[in-house]
Order: sequence, then structure tokens, then C-alpha cells
Amino acid sequence: MTRKSSGASKVRRGARTAYFVLEIYGKNSSLHGLYHLFQSKDMTRRAFWLIVLLAATTAGVYHTVMSIKRYSAMDTFVQIQDEAVPAEFPDITLCRVKPFSESLLIHYDKVLDRYFDTKWSYFNNWFKEERMQKPNESNIAYKHRLSVIFEKFMKIVWASEDFRDLGMFIDSALLSCSYEGQKCDHRNFSLIRDPDGWYCYSFSPSGDVAVGTEGLKLDLFTDTSFYHPVFEGTIVQFYGRDVKIHGSENMSDWNSLDFFLNTHWRSLNQIAEPIITQSNGFRVILHDSGTHPMMSLDSLEFEAGVSAAVNIGQMFVIRQQRLGVSDCIKKPFEQVRYVTNFDNRGKLEYRSYDKQQDEQVIQKKQEELMSQCGCYSHKYPFESGMETLCYHVPDSVKRTPTKEVMQRINCHDRVVAEVDKDTYQLLRKYSKFEPCRSAKLDFFNNVYEWPKTEDLPSVVNKYVLETLYERTDLLPGDGEHHSILNFSDPDIVRLVGKDKIVSRQTATLQQLFHGAGKFSRSSWRLVNNTRLTSNLLRLNIRLMKTKSKLIQEHPSLLEIAYLFFSANSDLQQDNDSSSQGVTADAKLGSEVESTQI
Ligand SMILES: *[C@@H]1O[C@H](CO)[C@@H](O)[C@H](O)[C@H]1NC(C)=O
Ligand SMILES: *[C@@H]1O[C@H](CO)[C@@H](O)[C@H](O)[C@H]1NC(C)=O
Ligand SMILES: *[C@@H]1O[C@H](CO)[C@@H](O)[C@H](O)[C@H]1NC(C)=O
Ligand SMILES: *[C@@H]1O[C@H](CO)[C@@H](O)[C@H](O)[C@H]1NC(C)=O
Ligand SMILES: *[C@@H]1O[C@H](CO)[C@@H](O)[C@H](O)[C@H]1NC(C)=O
Ligand SMILES: *[C@@H]1O[C@H](CO)[C@@H](O)[C@H](O)[C@H]1NC(C)=O
Repeated sequence: MTRKSSGASKVRRGARTAYFVLEIYGKNSSLHGLYHLFQSKDMTRRAFWLIVLLAATTAGVYHTVMSIKRYSAMDTFVQIQDEAVPAEFPDITLCRVKPFSESLLIHYDKVLDRYFDTKWSYFNNWFKEERMQKPNESNIAYKHRLSVIFEKFMKIVWASEDFRDLGMFIDSALLSCSYEGQKCDHRNFSLIRDPDGWYCYSFSPSGDVAVGTEGLKLDLFTDTSFYHPVFEGTIVQFYGRDVKIHGSENMSDWNSLDFFLNTHWRSLNQIAEPIITQSNGFRVILHDSGTHPMMSLDSLEFEAGVSAAVNIGQMFVIRQQRLGVSDCIKKPFEQVRYVTNFDNRGKLEYRSYDKQQDEQVIQKKQEELMSQCGCYSHKYPFESGMETLCYHVPDSVKRTPTKEVMQRINCHDRVVAEVDKDTYQLLRKYSKFEPCRSAKLDFFNNVYEWPKTEDLPSVVNKYVLETLYERTDLLPGDGEHHSILNFSDPDIVRLVGKDKIVSRQTATLQQLFHGAGKFSRSSWRLVNNTRLTSNLLRLNIRLMKTKSKLIQEHPSLLEIAYLFFSANSDLQQDNDSSSQGVTADAKLGSEVESTQI
């Protein structure tokens, strides 16, 4: 629809609504003329009153139109009701800032090395020219540029491989979980793949648990703080060995991922998320229930070693309804189905989300990519298998990319840069897909050190010796599909050594116990408390009140008159006085809609 015709239809809808309002007004009016016109049986009398009225109405309509014009130019009228509607607990999505489990990266470093070597040749045949230092490029600028290229390698891996073995397992991360006093566990979380967090998990409370103010309480094992980046030339302890950190004066060494990963004491985490001040904690995204988490927006970050209370203040905003024009969408929303998990055997998992403004924008961007490059971007949520992603690389060409693969990737980068520039315009274009009623959250956080020294014995007892000690994730025969830590592969078993093949939790415990490899229930004193503390996070995400504030916008006087009439006719039937504001609004909305064509 062009801008012009949508403007015209707005006027038409406005006129219809105005007529509708006048009719109600006439029937209920105590005005003399109107009463006669609608009640009189005599045609001449009716004609007389009609003429009188028409003259008056013309003046009246003119006045009304001018009022509408004036009021729509004025600030909106806002109605605020405190504690007016039941609060809703938002969905919570958790991502680790460092995507990979560090204790596993250390324990199984040889497997990872073999994986990159045999599968990808350490990307030595990729972006050969771009990885060269330019004649006038400073060393610092060069290293920075390389880190961007390496990050791109990791996105290619993301779109092509199943790295779940090294990513977050919610079963291992979750040391304890309760929601409104009821126990919860990993089954209450659903996996969602994200190119930054890699393996994130969403929690949405089941509908039959009443909303309260206790909220969600989680104790998490972050597994993010075992590697400590150090400067070149220093000597570090690694598995009881002294290892000297290599630097290299020869800058051409730096352009290889192999050098970067294996001699510069960088973990895969630093390459996947090459931010200097990398946090050891979690990213927490709060989003309206049923919506897809927008990872970059509304996210809070918490460093490990703390207990954080996120206190949520919630208010619902009912968007301004312009007369007769539905410029927002109501529940139930149309759904969109995004891929939330995939692996290189062709497995696909989907989840449905409310289709709102963001989804329209994403769809538009993905369409643009498909039409220009013949593939979709991993940067935005997508709806079909991994082989439709521009960054997806099939096994056969991982070691040496073909021209087509490079073209797709370059096309992707170019088009993404173009469409991202249009984000603001697109959001405006699709503003009518904003929900009419949306929750706005604001939070304040209390953060304090945790666990403190006095908490440690109980933490060690409850979590280290019981929870971690008991679990057996990743062991051969656990029924899972392991594409990296594949202990059915005799070559990998030989590489690691049979006796070194341990569960995810045991690998973690070995790191906590000074890497000594020997621990038992009675040796809990050997736990390195510093390491333990820097891998734990306690979160309590709670609503401050069980009722939320309601904010309604109204644009004009005529609208208020309208609201008055519809609310009046609702009042007699309305049972639930607390939801009255919402009911009135919903009625208003549906009636306005029913007058449209
Ligand atoms: C490096 O040289 C190229 C041309 O050779 C030039 O375009 C670029 O601006 C130069 N960069 C710097 C930082 O001087
Ligand atoms: C967690 O999931 C179980 C079913 O697996 C369900 O019965 C329970 O209500 C859920 N708990 C919460 C807090 O949503
Ligand atoms: C730097 O290393 C590259 C290969 O790694 C080698 O070809 C080159 O000769 C080295 N340059 C210097 C100055 O050592
Ligand atoms: C693990 O290795 C075995 C033996 O090489 C192989 O048959 C199997 O397909 C591998 N599994 C995965 C998930 O790659
Ligand atoms: C405990 O771990 C920290 C951080 O990993 C390390 O600096 C420290 O030396 C360790 N303490 C002992 C006694 O090994
Ligand atoms: C009041 O609510 C009850 C159930 O919640 C419903 O059965 C009844 O019809 C309602 N009354 C009116 C007048 O809407």
C-alpha cells in the first residue's frame, strides 16, 4: 500500500467512526432537535428538524474536525492506574557470555586441536589475502583485524557444526532451581541456539503456577573461569607443567588460528567472543512471554562470583488508538516458527513465537538476503535448515572453500551491512505490528559477593560433592549425539587416553581440585575456593508486585467520548472490576475495528 492511499483510508475510517459516534449520541441525546428527529413519526416535522439539524451539524462537524485536528496535534492524554492488572512473569533467557565450557576446553584440548586440524585445516586455506598484514598497517591494528576474521571463522563453525558438546548444558549449569517456591529443573528450560551465546536456554513458567513475588531462583555453575589470558613471555602452570607463553615478533605467525589457539594461551572463548573485558558470567534476557528473545536488547550481564537480585517493575502500556485506525495488533498474535536447534545430521527443532514488529523486520531482511544471495543470515532468527544459511559450509569443502562458498559469505556480509542500515526505517514501516498491549519492564539489581567464605562449606557440600559429583554427562553410552567429543571413535579414545575419558562434571571437578585429578568426598578441603567462587552465580529474578501499573494513551476528546459510551455499556456486564481498564480498551478496539471495511 502506498503512503497516499493509506492516508486516504485513514480519513475514510475516521468519518465512519464519527458517524457511528453521532448515532449513539443521537439515540441517547437529551438535545431537543436530535430527539425529535429520531422519535418523530411525521415526515414534514422530521424534514424540518432535519434541515435545522443539518445546519447545526455542519457547523458541529466542522468544529469537531477542527478539534480532532487540534487534539491529534497535541500531546496525548494518558491515563495511569496503579496496580490495575495482574502482573505477568516474563520469559527469561540465559546465555553464557563465554559460550564454551572452559573445564572441557582444557581437559579435552587435544580433541579440539584434532577437530580443527582434520575438519578445517585450522582455516589456513580461508581468507588467505585478508589475513596478511597490509604494508602500512600497524601491528595492533593488524591483530585487531585478525580477531575479527577469526570471529567470522567461529560464525562459520556455528552455522556448520554441532558444538553442543562444548557449549552450555543446562543440566550441568543448573545447580538448583525454584520458581515461586516450586522446584524446577532442566526440563523447564528450552534450548535456543544463538550465534553469540551459542547455546542459550529459555525459561517460561508453566501457566498453573500463580504469579508471586518470589520469582525464579537459580544457582548456576558458569564453568567460564579456568583460562586466564596472560601476556606473552610469562610462564604459567598448565596441568602441573610450566608452559612459557609464546609471543612472536614475526607477524605472519599471527595470522593462523592454530598459532592463536595453541601457543598464545587463548581459549576458543576468546576467539568466539573477542571482547577484551570478557565477563565470566551470564547474560540474562527478559522478554514478554511468547516472544523471541532479542539477544542484543534488554539484556543484563552478571559476573560470576555474585548473588544478583533482579527486581522487576512492570507496567502495561496500551497504545494510543487513533480513531478508527488499528495501528497495532492484538492477541492472539500470528505465530512465526524459528529454528532453535539443528545439527549436522539434519535434525531440526523449532519453536513458535508471536509475530510482531521485530519479526516483520527480520523477515524483510531475510527475504532481501535470499533474493540477493540465495541464502539466509545466521545473524537473525531463521525458519529453515542450516544448509540454507549463507555461512553454512558442507564437510567436503571445509578444508578448502570453493568459490561459491566464498561468494555466499561475501554476499552475506555486504547485504547484511546494507539491510542493517535500514533497521530504523523498517521498524517504522512495521510499526502497526506493534502489540496494542505490551509490558514495559524496568529493573533494579542488588548484587553482592557470593559465595562468601562462610557460605563455602555448604556450597561445597551441596553442589560440589553432591550435584557435580553425581552427574555423568558426556560419558560414552549416554545416548547423546557427540560430534566433537565422540568417544565411540577409537582414534579419539587413543588421543585422550582411556583413563582420561571422564564426565563433564568430573572434568570440572578436576579443575576445581587444583587439577590434581584425585578427589573424593573426603577431600573437599582441596577445592580451590577462588576458582569455585569465580564459577558460581546466584540469580533471583522477581516481580516487585503481583499487580502492574496500566498506562493508557488517548489521543483526543472524541475518543474519550467514545470510551465513555463503550465503557458505560460494558459496566453492567463487567464482573471483574480489576480488569476493567483492559476490558474497556479491548471493547473499544474491537468496535473500532468492526466499523472499518
Ligand atoms: C594504507 O594504504 C592504503 C593504500 O595503499 C590507503 O588506502 C590506506 O588509507 C592506508 N592506511 C593507513 C592507515 O594509512
Ligand atoms: C516445570 O516443568 C514441569 C513438567 O516437566 C511442570 O509440571 C512444572 O509446573 C514446571 N515448573 C514451572 C515452574 O514452570
Ligand atoms: C616469518 O614466518 C614466515 C612463516 O611463518 C616465514 O616464511 C618468514 O620467513 C618469517 N619471517 C621472518 C622475518 O622471520
Ligand atoms: C563417532 O565415531 C564413530 C567411529 O568413527 C562414527 O561411526 C560415528 O558416526 C561418530 N559419531 C558422530 C556423532 O560423529
Ligand atoms: C586457585 O585458583 C586461582 C585461580 O585459578 C589461582 O590463581 C591460585 O593459585 C589457586 N590456588 C592454589 C592454592 O592453587
Ligand atoms: C460473570 O462471569 C461469569 C463467570 O466468570 C459468567 O458466567 C457470567 O456470564 C458473567 N456475567 C456477565 C453479566 O457477564
